[in-house]
Amino acid sequence: MENIHFLEKIMQTRISKNHPAIAIIILIACIVSSTRAQAPDPSMPHLVHQNGRHALIVDGEPFLILGAQCHNSSAWPAMLPQVWSAMAALDANTLEIPVYWEQFEPQPGRYNYDVIDTIITQARGHNLRLVLLWFATWKNGSNHYMPQWMKLQPDRYPNISGAKGQPVDSPSPHSQAALEADIRAFTAFMQHLKEVDKQHTVIMIQVENEPGSWDSIRDYSPAAQKIFNAPVPAPALAAMHKSAHANHSWAEVFGRDADEFFQVWHVASCIGKIAAAGKAVYPLPLYVNGSIRDPFNPGWPPTYQVGGPNDNVFELWKAAAPAIDILAPDIYLSDTRAYLKVLELYSRPDNPLFVPETIGHGAITRFFFAALGEGAIGYAPFGMDDTEIRTGRDGRPLSAAERYGDTALNYRMFKPMAREIARLNFAGKVKTAVQLAVDSTSGPGSSFDRVHYITDQSLHFNGWDADIAFGRFNRLARVMSQPEGPDGRILIAELGKGHYLIAGYHCRVMFRPAGENKDRPWQYLQVEEGRYSNGEFKAGRILNGDQTDWGLVFSTPAVLRVQLYTR
Ligand code: DGJ
Repeated sequence: MENIHFLEKIMQTRISKNHPAIAIIILIACIVSSTRAQAPDPSMPHLVHQNGRHALIVDGEPFLILGAQCHNSSAWPAMLPQVWSAMAALDANTLEIPVYWEQFEPQPGRYNYDVIDTIITQARGHNLRLVLLWFATWKNGSNHYMPQWMKLQPDRYPNISGAKGQPVDSPSPHSQAALEADIRAFTAFMQHLKEVDKQHTVIMIQVENEPGSWDSIRDYSPAAQKIFNAPVPAPALAAMHKSAHANHSWAEVFGRDADEFFQVWHVASCIGKIAAAGKAVYPLPLYVNGSIRDPFNPGWPPTYQVGGPNDNVFELWKAAAPAIDILAPDIYLSDTRAYLKVLELYSRPDNPLFVPETIGHGAITRFFFAALGEGAIGYAPFGMDDTEIRTGRDGRPLSAAERYGDTALNYRMFKPMAREIARLNFAGKVKTAVQLAVDSTSGPGSSFDRVHYITDQSLHFNGWDADIAFGRFNRLARVMSQPEGPDGRILIAELGKGHYLIAGYHCRVMFRPAGENKDRPWQYLQVEEGRYSNGEFKAGRILNGDQTDWGLVFSTPAVLRVQLYTR
Protein backbone atom coordinates (compact mmCIF):
# COMPACT_ATOMS: atom_id res chain seq x y z
CA MET A 1 0.00 0.00 0.00
CA GLU A 2 2.75 2.35 0.96
CA ASN A 3 4.35 1.78 -2.44
CA ILE A 4 1.11 2.54 -4.23
CA HIS A 5 0.80 5.87 -2.46
CA PHE A 6 4.41 6.61 -3.30
CA LEU A 7 3.70 5.85 -6.98
CA GLU A 8 0.72 8.16 -7.00
CA LYS A 9 2.89 10.91 -5.55
CA ILE A 10 5.60 10.42 -8.19
CA MET A 11 3.04 10.73 -10.95
CA GLN A 12 1.92 14.04 -9.55
CA THR A 13 5.42 15.55 -9.21
CA ARG A 14 7.29 17.89 -11.49
CA ILE A 15 9.61 15.02 -12.53
CA SER A 16 6.76 13.27 -14.28
CA LYS A 17 5.63 16.44 -15.95
CA ASN A 18 9.09 17.62 -17.07
CA HIS A 19 10.93 14.28 -17.44
CA PRO A 20 8.38 11.60 -18.22
CA ALA A 21 11.09 9.01 -19.15
CA ILE A 22 12.76 9.32 -15.73
CA ALA A 23 9.39 9.07 -14.02
CA ILE A 24 8.65 5.85 -15.91
CA ILE A 25 12.02 4.33 -14.89
CA ILE A 26 11.34 5.21 -11.24
CA LEU A 27 7.88 3.74 -11.62
CA ILE A 28 9.17 0.45 -13.01
CA ALA A 29 11.81 0.24 -10.25
CA CYS A 30 9.09 0.80 -7.64
CA ILE A 31 6.83 -1.84 -9.15
CA VAL A 32 9.70 -4.39 -9.26
CA SER A 33 10.66 -3.70 -5.67
CA SER A 34 7.05 -3.79 -4.49
CA THR A 35 6.51 -7.15 -6.25
CA ARG A 36 9.67 -8.47 -4.62
CA ALA A 37 8.53 -7.30 -1.21
CA GLN A 38 5.24 -9.14 -1.59
CA ALA A 39 6.56 -12.34 -3.20
CA PRO A 40 6.37 -15.33 -0.85
CA ASP A 41 9.65 -16.42 0.66
CA PRO A 42 10.69 -19.37 -1.57
CA SER A 43 12.54 -20.99 1.32
CA MET A 44 9.27 -21.31 3.30
CA PRO A 45 7.87 -24.83 3.41
CA HIS A 46 4.79 -24.72 1.22
CA LEU A 47 2.42 -26.89 -0.75
CA VAL A 48 2.26 -26.97 -4.54
CA HIS A 49 -0.44 -28.49 -6.71
CA GLN A 50 -0.33 -29.74 -10.29
CA ASN A 51 -2.75 -31.88 -12.31
CA GLY A 52 -4.63 -32.84 -9.15
CA ARG A 53 -1.44 -33.92 -7.37
CA HIS A 54 0.37 -32.26 -4.50
CA ALA A 55 3.84 -31.86 -3.06
CA LEU A 56 5.16 -30.42 0.16
CA ILE A 57 8.13 -28.26 -0.76
CA VAL A 58 10.87 -28.05 1.84
CA ASP A 59 14.16 -26.33 1.02
CA GLY A 60 12.89 -25.81 -2.51
CA GLU A 61 12.26 -29.50 -3.33
CA PRO A 62 9.43 -32.00 -2.80
CA PHE A 63 9.74 -33.60 0.62
CA LEU A 64 8.27 -36.88 1.85
CA ILE A 65 7.39 -36.91 5.55
CA LEU A 66 8.60 -40.20 7.02
CA GLY A 67 7.06 -39.25 10.31
CA ALA A 68 6.35 -40.57 13.75
CA GLN A 69 4.27 -38.98 16.49
CA CYS A 70 5.29 -39.19 20.13
CA HIS A 71 2.91 -39.90 22.98
CA ASN A 72 0.72 -37.02 24.16
CA SER A 73 2.80 -36.26 27.28
CA SER A 74 6.26 -36.64 25.76
CA ALA A 75 6.85 -33.03 24.71
CA TRP A 76 8.68 -32.13 27.91
CA PRO A 77 12.45 -31.67 28.06
CA ALA A 78 12.78 -34.53 30.55
CA MET A 79 11.14 -36.94 28.11
CA LEU A 80 12.92 -35.87 24.96
CA PRO A 81 15.94 -38.22 25.15
CA GLN A 82 13.62 -41.21 24.77
CA VAL A 83 11.85 -39.49 21.90
CA TRP A 84 15.07 -38.86 19.98
CA SER A 85 16.32 -42.42 20.49
CA ALA A 86 13.05 -43.77 19.16
CA MET A 87 13.17 -41.51 16.10
CA ALA A 88 16.68 -42.78 15.34
CA ALA A 89 15.56 -46.41 15.71
CA LEU A 90 12.66 -45.74 13.35
CA ASP A 91 14.78 -43.95 10.76
CA ALA A 92 12.11 -41.23 10.65
CA ASN A 93 12.92 -37.86 9.10
CA THR A 94 10.16 -35.89 10.87
CA LEU A 95 8.83 -35.84 14.42
CA GLU A 96 5.25 -34.86 15.15
CA ILE A 97 5.17 -33.43 18.66
CA PRO A 98 2.59 -31.41 20.63
CA VAL A 99 2.76 -27.84 21.87
CA TYR A 100 0.56 -27.55 24.94
CA TRP A 101 -1.49 -24.38 25.35
CA GLU A 102 -1.52 -24.91 29.14
CA GLN A 103 2.30 -24.81 29.14
CA PHE A 104 2.61 -22.08 26.52
CA GLU A 105 0.32 -19.51 28.18
CA PRO A 106 0.38 -20.20 31.93
CA GLN A 107 -1.06 -16.75 32.62
CA PRO A 108 -3.21 -14.69 30.26
CA GLY A 109 -0.98 -13.07 27.64
CA ARG A 110 2.27 -14.38 29.17
CA TYR A 111 3.86 -16.86 26.83
CA ASN A 112 6.53 -19.38 27.72
CA TYR A 113 8.68 -20.33 24.74
CA ASP A 114 11.19 -22.50 26.62
CA VAL A 115 9.80 -25.90 25.69
CA ILE A 116 9.25 -25.05 22.04
CA ASP A 117 12.78 -23.67 21.78
CA THR A 118 14.25 -26.77 23.40
CA ILE A 119 12.38 -29.05 21.02
CA ILE A 120 13.47 -27.08 17.96
CA THR A 121 17.11 -26.91 19.02
CA GLN A 122 17.30 -30.59 19.87
CA ALA A 123 15.48 -31.62 16.69
CA ARG A 124 18.14 -29.83 14.68
CA GLY A 125 20.82 -31.70 16.62
CA HIS A 126 19.13 -34.96 15.58
CA ASN A 127 18.70 -33.88 11.98
CA LEU A 128 14.92 -34.07 12.19
CA ARG A 129 12.16 -31.85 10.85
CA LEU A 130 9.18 -31.05 13.03
CA VAL A 131 5.44 -30.99 12.61
CA LEU A 132 4.12 -29.17 15.68
CA LEU A 133 0.68 -30.06 17.01
CA TRP A 134 -1.22 -27.13 18.51
CA PHE A 135 -3.06 -28.79 21.41
CA ALA A 136 -5.38 -25.93 22.33
CA THR A 137 -9.17 -25.45 22.42
CA TRP A 138 -9.78 -28.97 21.12
CA LYS A 139 -7.81 -32.10 22.00
CA ASN A 140 -9.73 -35.29 21.16
CA GLY A 141 -12.91 -33.21 21.34
CA SER A 142 -12.23 -31.86 24.85
CA ASN A 143 -10.79 -28.69 26.34
CA HIS A 144 -8.19 -30.48 28.48
CA TYR A 145 -5.23 -28.49 27.16
CA MET A 146 -6.76 -25.07 27.85
CA PRO A 147 -4.70 -23.19 30.44
CA GLN A 148 -5.90 -23.47 34.03
CA TRP A 149 -6.96 -19.82 34.11
CA MET A 150 -9.45 -20.68 31.34
CA LYS A 151 -10.68 -23.94 32.85
CA LEU A 152 -11.43 -22.07 36.06
CA GLN A 153 -13.73 -19.63 34.23
CA PRO A 154 -16.29 -22.02 32.72
CA ASP A 155 -18.84 -19.25 32.20
CA ARG A 156 -16.43 -17.34 30.01
CA TYR A 157 -14.99 -20.42 28.28
CA PRO A 158 -17.93 -22.83 28.31
CA ASN A 159 -18.34 -26.42 27.30
CA ILE A 160 -21.33 -27.46 25.24
CA SER A 161 -24.64 -28.71 26.67
CA GLY A 162 -26.30 -31.89 25.47
CA ALA A 163 -29.84 -32.21 24.13
CA LYS A 164 -31.17 -32.73 27.66
CA GLY A 165 -29.12 -29.90 29.10
CA GLN A 166 -26.46 -32.30 30.43
CA PRO A 167 -22.85 -31.08 30.59
CA VAL A 168 -20.67 -32.42 27.79
CA ASP A 169 -16.87 -32.57 28.01
CA SER A 170 -16.28 -30.52 24.88
CA PRO A 171 -15.61 -26.81 24.36
CA SER A 172 -18.25 -24.67 22.72
CA PRO A 173 -17.44 -23.37 19.24
CA HIS A 174 -19.82 -20.49 20.02
CA SER A 175 -17.63 -18.88 22.69
CA GLN A 176 -16.17 -15.69 21.28
CA ALA A 177 -13.89 -15.30 24.32
CA ALA A 178 -12.35 -18.76 23.85
CA LEU A 179 -11.91 -18.15 20.13
CA GLU A 180 -10.17 -14.84 20.74
CA ALA A 181 -7.90 -16.38 23.37
CA ASP A 182 -6.90 -19.21 21.01
CA ILE A 183 -6.30 -16.76 18.15
CA ARG A 184 -4.07 -14.62 20.37
CA ALA A 185 -2.04 -17.56 21.62
CA PHE A 186 -1.72 -19.27 18.24
CA THR A 187 -0.61 -16.01 16.64
CA ALA A 188 2.03 -15.51 19.33
CA PHE A 189 3.23 -19.07 18.77
CA MET A 190 3.47 -18.60 14.98
CA GLN A 191 5.17 -15.22 15.42
CA HIS A 192 7.76 -16.89 17.62
CA LEU A 193 8.37 -19.65 15.06
CA LYS A 194 8.89 -16.99 12.44
CA GLU A 195 11.55 -15.37 14.60
CA VAL A 196 13.45 -18.43 15.79
CA ASP A 197 13.13 -20.84 12.88
CA LYS A 198 14.79 -19.15 9.94
CA GLN A 199 16.13 -22.56 8.84
CA HIS A 200 12.65 -24.12 8.73
CA THR A 201 13.06 -27.04 11.04
CA VAL A 202 9.29 -26.76 11.54
CA ILE A 203 7.63 -27.66 8.25
CA MET A 204 3.94 -27.88 9.09
CA ILE A 205 1.49 -27.19 11.90
CA GLN A 206 -1.52 -29.19 13.04
CA VAL A 207 -4.17 -26.76 14.32
CA GLU A 208 -5.96 -28.33 17.33
CA ASN A 209 -6.23 -32.10 17.66
CA GLU A 210 -9.23 -34.17 16.58
CA PRO A 211 -11.65 -31.26 17.03
CA GLY A 212 -15.36 -31.70 17.54
CA SER A 213 -17.46 -33.43 20.15
CA TRP A 214 -18.25 -36.87 21.43
CA ASP A 215 -21.45 -37.68 23.34
CA SER A 216 -23.47 -34.84 21.86
CA ILE A 217 -23.87 -33.94 18.21
CA ARG A 218 -23.87 -30.22 18.95
CA ASP A 219 -24.33 -27.55 21.55
CA TYR A 220 -27.96 -27.32 22.70
CA SER A 221 -27.42 -24.41 25.12
CA PRO A 222 -29.96 -21.56 24.73
CA ALA A 223 -27.31 -19.36 23.06
CA ALA A 224 -26.41 -22.09 20.56
CA GLN A 225 -30.07 -22.93 19.96
CA LYS A 226 -30.69 -19.34 18.92
CA ILE A 227 -27.97 -19.60 16.28
CA PHE A 228 -29.34 -22.99 15.19
CA ASN A 229 -32.78 -21.46 14.63
CA ALA A 230 -31.39 -18.50 12.67
CA PRO A 231 -30.80 -18.64 8.89
CA VAL A 232 -27.89 -20.79 7.69
CA PRO A 233 -24.99 -18.49 6.66
CA ALA A 234 -24.75 -18.00 2.89
CA PRO A 235 -21.24 -19.58 2.56
CA ALA A 236 -22.48 -22.75 4.27
CA LEU A 237 -25.43 -22.90 1.89
CA ALA A 238 -23.15 -22.35 -1.10
CA ALA A 239 -20.73 -25.05 0.08
CA MET A 240 -23.57 -27.58 0.21
CA HIS A 241 -25.21 -26.37 -3.04
CA LYS A 242 -28.22 -25.06 -1.15
CA SER A 243 -28.02 -21.37 -2.04
CA ALA A 244 -31.66 -21.43 -3.08
CA HIS A 245 -32.59 -21.94 0.59
CA ALA A 246 -31.53 -18.53 1.85
CA ASN A 247 -33.16 -17.35 5.08
CA HIS A 248 -34.00 -20.84 6.25
CA SER A 249 -32.83 -22.41 9.50
CA TRP A 250 -30.42 -25.34 9.75
CA ALA A 251 -33.24 -27.78 10.42
CA GLU A 252 -35.24 -26.48 7.46
CA VAL A 253 -32.33 -26.74 5.04
CA PHE A 254 -30.54 -29.89 6.19
CA GLY A 255 -33.22 -32.01 7.89
CA ARG A 256 -31.70 -34.90 9.81
CA ASP A 257 -28.14 -33.75 8.98
CA ALA A 258 -28.81 -30.33 10.50
CA ASP A 259 -27.34 -30.94 13.98
CA GLU A 260 -24.18 -32.48 12.54
CA PHE A 261 -23.62 -29.85 9.84
CA PHE A 262 -24.27 -27.04 12.34
CA GLN A 263 -21.58 -28.37 14.68
CA VAL A 264 -19.14 -28.94 11.80
CA TRP A 265 -19.67 -25.46 10.41
CA HIS A 266 -19.02 -23.76 13.74
CA VAL A 267 -16.02 -25.86 14.76
CA ALA A 268 -14.49 -25.43 11.28
CA SER A 269 -15.21 -21.68 11.31
CA CYS A 270 -13.42 -21.24 14.64
CA ILE A 271 -10.42 -23.23 13.49
CA GLY A 272 -10.46 -21.41 10.17
CA LYS A 273 -10.16 -18.10 12.01
CA ILE A 274 -7.39 -19.35 14.30
CA ALA A 275 -5.51 -20.76 11.29
CA ALA A 276 -5.95 -17.60 9.22
CA ALA A 277 -4.62 -15.41 12.03
CA GLY A 278 -1.54 -17.60 12.49
CA LYS A 279 -0.94 -17.89 8.78
CA ALA A 280 -1.08 -14.13 8.38
CA VAL A 281 2.02 -13.79 10.54
CA TYR A 282 3.83 -16.93 9.36
CA PRO A 283 2.42 -18.88 6.38
CA LEU A 284 3.42 -22.47 7.15
CA PRO A 285 1.21 -25.26 5.75
CA LEU A 286 -1.59 -26.00 8.20
CA TYR A 287 -3.73 -29.08 8.64
CA VAL A 288 -6.52 -30.45 10.82
CA ASN A 289 -6.63 -34.10 11.85
CA GLY A 290 -9.86 -36.01 12.24
CA SER A 291 -10.97 -38.95 14.31
CA ILE A 292 -12.63 -40.31 11.23
CA ARG A 293 -15.78 -42.31 10.78
CA ASP A 294 -15.86 -45.73 9.17
CA PRO A 295 -15.92 -45.14 5.40
CA PHE A 296 -18.35 -47.98 4.66
CA ASN A 297 -20.52 -48.20 7.78
CA PRO A 298 -20.35 -44.80 9.41
CA GLY A 299 -23.49 -45.21 11.51
CA TRP A 300 -25.12 -42.07 12.82
CA PRO A 301 -23.60 -39.30 14.92
CA PRO A 302 -22.66 -39.16 17.73
CA THR A 303 -21.43 -42.76 17.37
CA TYR A 304 -18.56 -41.01 15.61
CA GLN A 305 -16.95 -37.70 16.54
CA VAL A 306 -18.84 -34.72 15.14
CA GLY A 307 -17.21 -31.47 14.06
CA GLY A 308 -13.98 -32.78 12.60
CA PRO A 309 -13.08 -33.36 8.95
CA ASN A 310 -15.16 -36.46 8.28
CA ASP A 311 -15.52 -37.55 4.67
CA ASN A 312 -19.15 -36.36 4.46
CA VAL A 313 -18.36 -32.77 5.44
CA PHE A 314 -15.32 -31.90 3.32
CA GLU A 315 -17.19 -29.13 1.52
CA LEU A 316 -18.22 -27.45 4.78
CA TRP A 317 -14.66 -27.59 6.08
CA LYS A 318 -13.13 -26.26 2.87
CA ALA A 319 -15.57 -23.33 2.85
CA ALA A 320 -15.37 -22.50 6.56
CA ALA A 321 -11.61 -22.89 6.97
CA PRO A 322 -9.81 -21.99 3.73
CA ALA A 323 -6.59 -21.29 5.67
CA ILE A 324 -6.42 -25.00 6.47
CA ASP A 325 -4.49 -26.68 3.65
CA ILE A 326 -5.13 -30.30 4.49
CA LEU A 327 -7.94 -32.30 6.06
CA ALA A 328 -6.10 -35.33 7.38
CA PRO A 329 -7.38 -38.70 8.58
CA ASP A 330 -6.10 -40.38 11.75
CA ILE A 331 -6.40 -43.99 10.62
CA TYR A 332 -6.76 -46.60 13.34
CA LEU A 333 -8.72 -49.03 11.17
CA SER A 334 -7.30 -52.50 10.73
CA ASP A 335 -9.74 -53.64 8.07
CA THR A 336 -7.88 -53.56 4.76
CA ARG A 337 -10.75 -52.38 2.58
CA ALA A 338 -11.71 -49.65 5.02
CA TYR A 339 -8.12 -48.44 5.38
CA LEU A 340 -7.63 -48.24 1.62
CA LYS A 341 -10.97 -46.49 1.19
CA VAL A 342 -10.00 -43.79 3.67
CA LEU A 343 -6.76 -43.15 1.77
CA GLU A 344 -8.78 -42.77 -1.40
CA LEU A 345 -11.37 -40.45 0.20
CA TYR A 346 -8.79 -38.05 1.63
CA SER A 347 -6.68 -37.86 -1.52
CA ARG A 348 -8.39 -35.29 -3.72
CA PRO A 349 -7.38 -32.57 -6.14
CA ASP A 350 -8.37 -30.07 -3.44
CA ASN A 351 -6.80 -32.04 -0.58
CA PRO A 352 -3.28 -33.45 -0.33
CA LEU A 353 -3.21 -36.83 1.41
CA PHE A 354 -1.38 -36.77 4.72
CA VAL A 355 -1.75 -39.46 7.39
CA PRO A 356 -0.77 -37.77 10.66
CA GLU A 357 -1.68 -40.72 12.91
CA THR A 358 -1.94 -44.43 12.35
CA ILE A 359 -0.78 -47.76 13.73
CA GLY A 360 2.97 -48.33 13.52
CA HIS A 361 3.13 -52.06 14.22
CA GLY A 362 2.49 -55.27 12.37
CA ALA A 363 1.25 -55.84 8.85
CA ILE A 364 -0.72 -52.57 8.91
CA THR A 365 2.55 -50.78 8.23
CA ARG A 366 2.29 -51.97 4.62
CA PHE A 367 -0.37 -49.29 4.14
CA PHE A 368 2.46 -46.75 4.09
CA PHE A 369 2.96 -48.03 0.53
CA ALA A 370 -0.76 -47.72 -0.19
CA ALA A 371 -0.66 -44.10 1.02
CA LEU A 372 2.21 -43.36 -1.36
CA GLY A 373 0.17 -44.92 -4.15
CA GLU A 374 -2.52 -42.35 -3.39
CA GLY A 375 0.05 -39.56 -3.62
CA ALA A 376 0.64 -39.00 0.11
CA ILE A 377 2.97 -36.19 1.13
CA GLY A 378 3.61 -37.95 4.43
CA TYR A 379 2.75 -40.63 6.93
CA ALA A 380 3.23 -40.89 10.68
CA PRO A 381 2.39 -43.71 13.10
CA PHE A 382 1.30 -42.58 16.57
CA GLY A 383 2.88 -43.17 19.97
CA MET A 384 6.26 -44.17 18.64
CA ASP A 385 8.56 -43.25 21.50
CA ASP A 386 10.23 -44.96 24.37
CA THR A 387 8.37 -43.15 27.13
CA GLU A 388 5.96 -46.02 27.70
CA ILE A 389 6.90 -49.63 28.21
CA ARG A 390 5.10 -51.75 25.68
CA THR A 391 4.48 -55.38 26.41
CA GLY A 392 3.63 -58.25 24.13
CA ARG A 393 0.70 -60.64 24.52
CA ASP A 394 2.70 -62.65 27.04
CA GLY A 395 3.28 -59.56 29.21
CA ARG A 396 7.00 -59.43 28.37
CA PRO A 397 8.40 -55.98 27.46
CA LEU A 398 8.87 -55.71 23.70
CA SER A 399 12.38 -55.44 22.34
CA ALA A 400 13.39 -52.39 20.28
CA ALA A 401 13.10 -54.48 17.12
CA GLU A 402 9.55 -55.44 18.05
CA ARG A 403 8.61 -51.87 18.94
CA TYR A 404 10.07 -50.19 15.90
CA GLY A 405 10.89 -52.89 13.38
CA ASP A 406 7.75 -52.74 11.26
CA THR A 407 7.83 -48.98 10.69
CA ALA A 408 11.62 -48.92 10.46
CA LEU A 409 11.42 -51.52 7.69
CA ASN A 410 9.63 -48.95 5.52
CA TYR A 411 11.59 -45.90 6.57
CA ARG A 412 15.00 -47.57 6.24
CA MET A 413 14.20 -48.30 2.59
CA PHE A 414 12.73 -44.87 1.85
CA LYS A 415 14.75 -42.37 3.86
CA PRO A 416 17.73 -42.27 1.47
CA MET A 417 15.38 -41.81 -1.51
CA ALA A 418 12.59 -39.80 0.11
CA ARG A 419 13.19 -36.73 -2.07
CA GLU A 420 13.26 -38.90 -5.19
CA ILE A 421 9.97 -40.57 -4.27
CA ALA A 422 8.31 -37.24 -3.43
CA ARG A 423 9.43 -35.83 -6.79
CA LEU A 424 8.28 -38.89 -8.74
CA ASN A 425 4.97 -38.96 -6.90
CA PHE A 426 4.31 -35.31 -7.69
CA ALA A 427 5.01 -36.13 -11.33
CA GLY A 428 2.44 -38.98 -11.18
CA LYS A 429 5.00 -41.74 -11.72
CA VAL A 430 4.44 -43.83 -8.60
CA LYS A 431 2.20 -46.91 -8.34
CA THR A 432 1.89 -49.25 -5.41
CA ALA A 433 0.13 -52.42 -4.34
CA VAL A 434 -0.29 -54.07 -0.96
CA GLN A 435 -1.27 -57.60 -0.07
CA LEU A 436 -4.99 -57.82 0.53
CA ALA A 437 -5.25 -61.19 2.23
CA VAL A 438 -2.98 -63.78 3.76
CA ASP A 439 -3.86 -66.44 1.24
CA SER A 440 -3.91 -64.10 -1.72
CA THR A 441 -1.49 -66.31 -3.67
CA SER A 442 -3.37 -69.54 -2.97
CA GLY A 443 -5.17 -71.11 -5.87
CA PRO A 444 -5.73 -74.50 -7.34
CA GLY A 445 -2.83 -76.92 -6.90
CA SER A 446 -0.04 -77.00 -4.38
CA SER A 447 1.40 -73.62 -3.70
CA PHE A 448 4.89 -75.13 -3.75
CA ASP A 449 4.52 -76.03 -7.43
CA ARG A 450 3.36 -72.71 -8.71
CA VAL A 451 6.01 -70.47 -10.11
CA HIS A 452 5.13 -67.88 -12.71
CA TYR A 453 1.46 -68.04 -12.84
CA ILE A 454 0.07 -66.43 -9.77
CA THR A 455 -0.88 -62.78 -9.94
CA ASP A 456 -2.55 -61.03 -7.07
CA GLN A 457 -2.53 -57.58 -8.63
CA SER A 458 -1.15 -55.91 -11.74
CA LEU A 459 0.26 -52.42 -12.10
CA HIS A 460 0.12 -50.79 -15.50
CA PHE A 461 2.77 -48.55 -17.06
CA ASN A 462 3.58 -47.08 -20.44
CA GLY A 463 4.08 -50.19 -22.62
CA TRP A 464 4.62 -52.57 -19.72
CA ASP A 465 2.60 -54.32 -17.02
CA ALA A 466 3.91 -55.64 -13.72
CA ASP A 467 2.23 -58.68 -12.20
CA ILE A 468 2.61 -58.89 -8.46
CA ALA A 469 2.26 -61.93 -6.23
CA PHE A 470 2.51 -61.53 -2.46
CA GLY A 471 4.05 -63.79 0.16
CA ARG A 472 7.40 -65.38 0.83
CA PHE A 473 9.13 -66.92 -2.13
CA ASN A 474 12.26 -69.01 -2.42
CA ARG A 475 15.23 -68.34 -4.66
CA LEU A 476 13.46 -69.79 -7.68
CA ALA A 477 10.41 -67.67 -6.99
CA ARG A 478 8.31 -70.53 -5.69
CA VAL A 479 5.80 -69.72 -2.98
CA MET A 480 7.34 -70.76 0.33
CA SER A 481 4.85 -69.61 2.90
CA GLN A 482 2.73 -66.70 3.92
CA PRO A 483 3.74 -64.47 6.78
CA GLU A 484 1.43 -64.33 9.79
CA GLY A 485 -0.24 -61.18 8.53
CA PRO A 486 -0.68 -60.13 4.91
CA ASP A 487 2.36 -57.88 4.87
CA GLY A 488 3.46 -57.82 1.20
CA ARG A 489 4.04 -54.39 -0.32
CA ILE A 490 5.46 -52.98 -3.52
CA LEU A 491 6.15 -49.57 -5.02
CA ILE A 492 7.11 -49.16 -8.66
CA ALA A 493 8.07 -45.74 -9.98
CA GLU A 494 8.42 -45.21 -13.70
CA LEU A 495 11.73 -43.47 -14.45
CA GLY A 496 11.22 -43.77 -18.21
CA LYS A 497 9.62 -46.22 -20.61
CA GLY A 498 10.67 -49.71 -19.44
CA HIS A 499 12.81 -48.19 -16.68
CA TYR A 500 11.71 -48.53 -13.06
CA LEU A 501 12.64 -47.91 -9.48
CA ILE A 502 11.16 -50.68 -7.33
CA ALA A 503 10.97 -51.03 -3.56
CA GLY A 504 9.28 -54.06 -2.10
CA TYR A 505 8.94 -56.67 0.60
CA HIS A 506 7.38 -60.14 0.64
CA CYS A 507 6.40 -60.14 -3.00
CA ARG A 508 7.47 -61.17 -6.46
CA VAL A 509 7.27 -58.98 -9.56
CA MET A 510 7.02 -60.28 -13.12
CA PHE A 511 7.04 -57.76 -15.97
CA ARG A 512 5.51 -58.29 -19.42
CA PRO A 513 5.17 -56.05 -22.47
CA ALA A 514 1.73 -54.52 -22.88
CA GLY A 515 -0.19 -52.70 -25.59
CA GLU A 516 1.18 -52.99 -29.11
CA ASN A 517 4.31 -54.83 -27.91
CA LYS A 518 2.22 -57.38 -26.04
CA ASP A 519 3.44 -60.43 -27.95
CA ARG A 520 7.07 -59.49 -28.45
CA PRO A 521 9.82 -61.36 -26.62
CA TRP A 522 11.48 -59.34 -23.92
CA GLN A 523 14.32 -59.44 -21.43
CA TYR A 524 15.90 -57.49 -18.64
CA LEU A 525 18.56 -55.14 -19.91
CA GLN A 526 19.82 -54.63 -16.38
CA VAL A 527 18.62 -55.17 -12.84
CA GLU A 528 20.55 -53.30 -10.19
CA GLU A 529 20.09 -53.75 -6.46
CA GLY A 530 21.29 -50.93 -4.26
CA ARG A 531 20.48 -47.85 -2.26
CA TYR A 532 20.12 -44.14 -2.76
CA SER A 533 22.72 -41.91 -1.21
CA ASN A 534 22.57 -38.12 -1.52
CA GLY A 535 19.98 -38.42 -4.27
CA GLU A 536 22.07 -40.83 -6.36
CA PHE A 537 21.36 -44.52 -6.78
CA LYS A 538 24.39 -46.65 -5.89
CA ALA A 539 24.19 -50.21 -7.13
CA GLY A 540 25.57 -52.83 -4.74
CA ARG A 541 25.26 -55.61 -7.32
CA ILE A 542 23.66 -56.53 -10.63
CA LEU A 543 21.04 -59.24 -10.35
CA ASN A 544 20.94 -61.90 -13.07
CA GLY A 545 20.45 -65.66 -13.48
CA ASP A 546 18.31 -67.25 -10.77
CA GLN A 547 17.71 -63.81 -9.25
CA THR A 548 15.84 -62.60 -12.35
CA ASP A 549 14.89 -65.63 -14.47
CA TRP A 550 11.94 -66.47 -12.22
CA GLY A 551 10.82 -62.94 -11.56
CA LEU A 552 12.12 -60.38 -9.10
CA VAL A 553 11.80 -61.72 -5.59
CA PHE A 554 11.69 -59.43 -2.57
CA SER A 555 12.25 -61.82 0.37
CA THR A 556 13.84 -59.04 2.35
CA PRO A 557 13.21 -55.31 1.87
CA ALA A 558 15.09 -54.25 -1.24
CA VAL A 559 15.41 -51.39 -3.73
CA LEU A 560 16.02 -52.20 -7.41
CA ARG A 561 16.50 -50.22 -10.60
CA VAL A 562 15.26 -52.23 -13.54
CA GLN A 563 15.57 -51.69 -17.29
CA LEU A 564 13.59 -53.82 -19.74
CA TYR A 565 13.68 -54.21 -23.50
CA THR A 566 11.75 -56.00 -26.23
CA ARG A 567 13.40 -57.73 -29.19
C1 DGJ B 1 -5.89 -39.92 18.65
C2 DGJ B 1 -5.37 -38.62 19.20
O1 DGJ B 1 -5.29 -37.68 18.16
C3 DGJ B 1 -4.01 -38.80 19.86
O2 DGJ B 1 -3.58 -37.57 20.40
C4 DGJ B 1 -4.11 -39.87 20.92
O3 DGJ B 1 -4.98 -39.46 21.94
C5 DGJ B 1 -4.60 -41.16 20.28
N1 DGJ B 1 -5.87 -40.95 19.65
C6 DGJ B 1 -4.82 -42.32 21.24
O4 DGJ B 1 -3.76 -42.60 22.03
